[in-house]
Amino acid sequence: MKVALIVGTRPQIIKSQPLIKEILSRKSKVSIIHTGQHYDYEMSKAFFKELKIRDPDVNLGVSTGSTSRQLGEIISKLEKPLKKISPDVVVVPGDTRSALGAALSANRMGIPLAHLEAGARSYDNKMEEEVNRRLIDHCSDLLFAPTKNCLKNLHAEAVLGRTYFTGDTMYDVFLEYQKLLKLESHSKEKFVLMTIHRRDNIEDYHKMKKILELAKTISKLGYKVIFPIHPHTKKQISSFKLSLKDIHTIAPVKYSQMLTLLSKTKLLLTDSGGLQKEAFWSNTACITLRKNTEWIETLDKNHNTLLGTIKKSDLYKISRILNSKKQKEKSKPMRLFGNGRASKKIVSILLKQF
Ligand code: UD1
Repeated sequence: MKVALIVGTRPQIIKSQPLIKEILSRKSKVSIIHTGQHYDYEMSKAFFKELKIRDPDVNLGVSTGSTSRQLGEIISKLEKPLKKISPDVVVVPGDTRSALGAALSANRMGIPLAHLEAGARSYDNKMEEEVNRRLIDHCSDLLFAPTKNCLKNLHAEAVLGRTYFTGDTMYDVFLEYQKLLKLESHSKEKFVLMTIHRRDNIEDYHKMKKILELAKTISKLGYKVIFPIHPHTKKQISSFKLSLKDIHTIAPVKYSQMLTLLSKTKLLLTDSGGLQKEAFWSNTACITLRKNTEWIETLDKNHNTLLGTIKKSDLYKISRILNSKKQKEKSKPMRLFGNGRASKKIVSILLKQF
């Protein structure tokens, strides 16, 4: 079997790692195509290195710029390498612009298309990613749902491709690194971890200001706020001339560092998709600075709380989490995202077809 896997961003590289390993261990071929959507070293190359993925076979080097320009470039630039590789199947992970571009390209070229992380929905069409994943799901031939709820969403939309509940490959890689790093979730330290990068937050001056004010208030409560800062967020904060005083900003961290911080923090404040799940798996309290989430499983027993608009009264909620001595009740989250063997299941399905 010959697979072409298309990635372009940090979360796509992470969720593809166990799949690449599995394809290669089953004596099949995988060509890795990077669109170049994330180009900073610490957002891309660093992950290939750390997760021991060989360098991409092709880098499309798409230019930065408007969504439509980037999308157009991805679709047209993919044609040549896909023709040359002539894969049995194109696999696209997640919901990025790179994933949508690749899906459309494969579809137009008549190459079977498989979607990793199919069926995730926030039901918020203002999110670029929500529209991307809906379109990808509706032109995919094979759809790999990470949770039963995602599978249910696909059935409700009557997608045309074949659907499978496989579990989440992000959970596969999470378990591998949790074991490797010997991470434990019972000893929390006195700091709060924060990551913010969603356009909805960072492109809105008032929202961004409120988030930073919240972080500063938390730091006045005696909790260091550690903020690995996404390059887009950094640019926006500086163009808004907002201050980062009292917030401990650091460059984006490696995957292993992120999982280590996550296992030790009292609380994660985030708008990331992937980190909400990882906090859940790490038994770490999470406040998601969004109105909605595609990972409704994490809302179980208040492991994750949505905070679309920050109000003064929210500080009370936060200080209760910070001051609680009790460990969060360990729910049975794990099976919700599979059993850590999603990649094995996916590759078995692919091998039956190709
Ligand atoms: C979101 C978007 C996705 C976009 C990406 C941009 C949604 C639903 N999806 O994904 O389309 O491409 O943002 O970044 O909004 N991590 C590190 N180091 C860090 C920060 C994060 O290793 O400093 C790891 C996390 O542990 C996790 C992954 O990166 O595994 C999450 O990546 P993140 O950038 O937060 O992306 P998402 O919000 O999941």
